[in-house]
Amino acid sequence: MKNIRNFCIIAHIDHGKSTLADRFLEVTGTLSRREMKHGQMLDTMELEQERGITIKLQPVRMEWTYKGEPYQLNLIDTPGHVDFSYEVSRSLAACEGAVLVVDATQGIQAQTLANCYMALEHNLEIIAVLNKIDLPAADVEGRAREIENALGIPREDILCISAKEGTNVEKLLERVIDRVPAPKDTGAADETRALIFDSVYDTYKGIVAYVRLMQGSLKRGDRIKMLNTRAETEVTEVGCFRPKYETKDQLFAGEVGYVVTGMKSVADARVGDTIWRPKDWHMRDELHPDPLPGYKKVTPFVFAGVFATDNDQYPLLRDALEKLSLNDSSLTFEPEQSGALGSGFRCGFLGLLHMDIVQERLEREYHLDLIVTAPSVSYQVIKNDGTMITISNPSELPQPAHVQSILEPWIKVELLTPTEYMGALMQMLADRRGLSKNVTYLDENRVNLHYEVPLASIVIDFYDELKSLTSGYASMSYEFLDFRVGDLVRLDILVHHEQLDALAIIIHRDEAFHHGIKVCKRLKEIIPRGQFEIPIQAAIGAKIIARETIAAYRKDVTGYLDGGDVTRKNKLLDKQKKGKKRMKMFGKVEVPQEAFLAVLKKND
Ligand code: GTP
Repeated sequence: MKNIRNFCIIAHIDHGKSTLADRFLEVTGTLSRREMKHGQMLDTMELEQERGITIKLQPVRMEWTYKGEPYQLNLIDTPGHVDFSYEVSRSLAACEGAVLVVDATQGIQAQTLANCYMALEHNLEIIAVLNKIDLPAADVEGRAREIENALGIPREDILCISAKEGTNVEKLLERVIDRVPAPKDTGAADETRALIFDSVYDTYKGIVAYVRLMQGSLKRGDRIKMLNTRAETEVTEVGCFRPKYETKDQLFAGEVGYVVTGMKSVADARVGDTIWRPKDWHMRDELHPDPLPGYKKVTPFVFAGVFATDNDQYPLLRDALEKLSLNDSSLTFEPEQSGALGSGFRCGFLGLLHMDIVQERLEREYHLDLIVTAPSVSYQVIKNDGTMITISNPSELPQPAHVQSILEPWIKVELLTPTEYMGALMQMLADRRGLSKNVTYLDENRVNLHYEVPLASIVIDFYDELKSLTSGYASMSYEFLDFRVGDLVRLDILVHHEQLDALAIIIHRDEAFHHGIKVCKRLKEIIPRGQFEIPIQAAIGAKIIARETIAAYRKDVTGYLDGGDVTRKNKLLDKQKKGKKRMKMFGKVEVPQEAFLAVLKKND
C-alpha cells in the first residue's frame, strides 16, 4: 500500500485538466500517443468531447517507476462545473491528494477555489500548478501571487507546466509521489468497506460501482451490502481502469477500482454509499458498522416539464428517461399532466447545465423532439390549515385564499471577479434580491463577493449575464442554504383567453407587474400571427395586469409563390417544417419553445 497514490485534478473548465490527464497517460506509458490520437481520453461521452467539458468522472490507473520503485497512481478526474459539486466531494473523499491546475493566463476561478477549500476540509495534500506557461499571455508571477494569497501556498511550491507541450509533467508526477501520502488502512482485513464515488450503467456489465477500498479486499463471488440503501448483492467482477475496464482477481485496501454487481439501477449503488462485506455474512443484519462519512442523497434543485412535441412519442420519452436515469441517479422524473401540453414528465435536475445536458441527450440519443417548460425551483407552501406541501410546478400553487405563506430556497453565492466589474455585479445582485454578506480581496485586482440570493433569481440567464457583464472574467460557485418566506405570487399567462398552465411562473410580488408587461411584449414577438387576433394577457389571480395583441394576417404571403420557382417554394416549405419543430398547438394558436423561456428571462 505504501506505493499507491490516489489523487485528483481540480481545475476550472478549460484550464487544461483533460490535456494534463492525457500527458500523464502518455508519460506513464498507460496509453501510447497512437492510441490517444483523438486526444482527451478521459472525456468519454460524445457530448463531453463536443463541448469540451467533463461531466462524468473517468478514473484511470497508471503504473510508473520512480527512484527504482514501482508505483500505482490512481487518477480520479473531477467535473469542474457548479452543478456537480457533490460528485466532486465524493471523488475528493477517495483521494489523499489533489493537483490544483490554474491557467496562467486566466488565474484562479470561484469554483476552483470552492473545490480547493473542499479538498482542504478533506485534508488532501494540494499541489498547485500553473498551466499554459507556453502562451505569451501567461502571467506566472501575478497568478502565483493570487494562489499564494487565496490558499497560502508559497510561491516556491507552485510548479509551472505546459500540459500541451509536456513541460514539467514528469516533475509533477514526481511531486505527487513525494508529497501525496500513501493511503492508510482503516481496519481489520477480514471485513471490507469501500466508498462508491461514482456508479454507471454499462450495457454489457450492468451496474458498475467505481470504488475506493478503505479496508479489506473484494473479489468475485463476495456477498456485499450497501450500508446506506441496505441493498444486498453479489460481486460478479472486480477490476481497475486502464482507462478501459481491466479485470483483476482481487482489489485491496487503498486501491481504486470497479465492482460489477447484479443490481438493476444506479439508485441501488448510490454515489457516497459504502459497500460492506461483513466478516460473517450471516451476521449482516445484526451488526451495524458505521458507513463511511459524507453520504448524501442528492436532491434536485431545478425542475421543468418535459413534453414531446408529438404526443405519440410519450412512451418513447418515458423509456428514454428510464434509461437515462439508470445512469444518473440525480435525475428524477414523474408523470405530469398539463392542460396545455398534454402528457409529459416533471423532471428534477441538479442545475441548469445538468438540465441542458439531459435535454440534449434525450433529443440526440433518443431522437425525440421536445418542449421543455421554464425551469422552476421547488417551493414550500404552508396552507391556512397549517399543513405544508412542497411544489415544484407553479401550476400546483393553491389559490391565494388557501395559502398562509410560501417559502423559497436561498443559496450562498460566491463571485470571483476583477475589481473593475464589482459595481456592475453588485447592481445585478441587488436587482435579483441578493443580500451582500462579505467582500474579500484576493489581491489588488481580484475580489470575492459573498452573497445570499434566492435560487429562483439565478435559475435563468444569471450565468450568461454574469459572463457578459464581466467579459467572461467573473466566475461563480454556489451552495444551498435554506428555505425562507417570500412575498410570492403566481403570474398566469393567457393566450387567446386561455390560461396556459405551462407558462405560469412564481415570482416576487414587487417584480410581478413589470415582469408581466415584459412577458406579454416578448410573447407578442415570439408567437406567430394567425388568421385572427390573438390577445396575450398576464394575470395575478383574477386580475389582468398586462395585455398585448397580435394582429391577424392581412395578406396570404405564400400566394406570391404559387406557380413560381419550385425550389424556392420547397425551401420555404422546408423552412416552415423546421420552424414547426418545437412548436405546440394550443387550441388554434401555435406556441414555439422560446415562449417557455421568455416568461422567465429577466432582461432582453
Ligand atoms: P473541462 O474538461 O471542460 O473541465 O476542461 P479542461 O480543463 O479539461 O481543459 P482542456 O484540457 O480541454 O483544455 C482546454 C484548452 O486549453 C484546449 O484547447 C487545450 O488544447 C488548451 N491547453 C491545455 N493545456 C495547455 C497548455 O499547456 N498550453 C496551451 N497553449 N494550451 C493548453
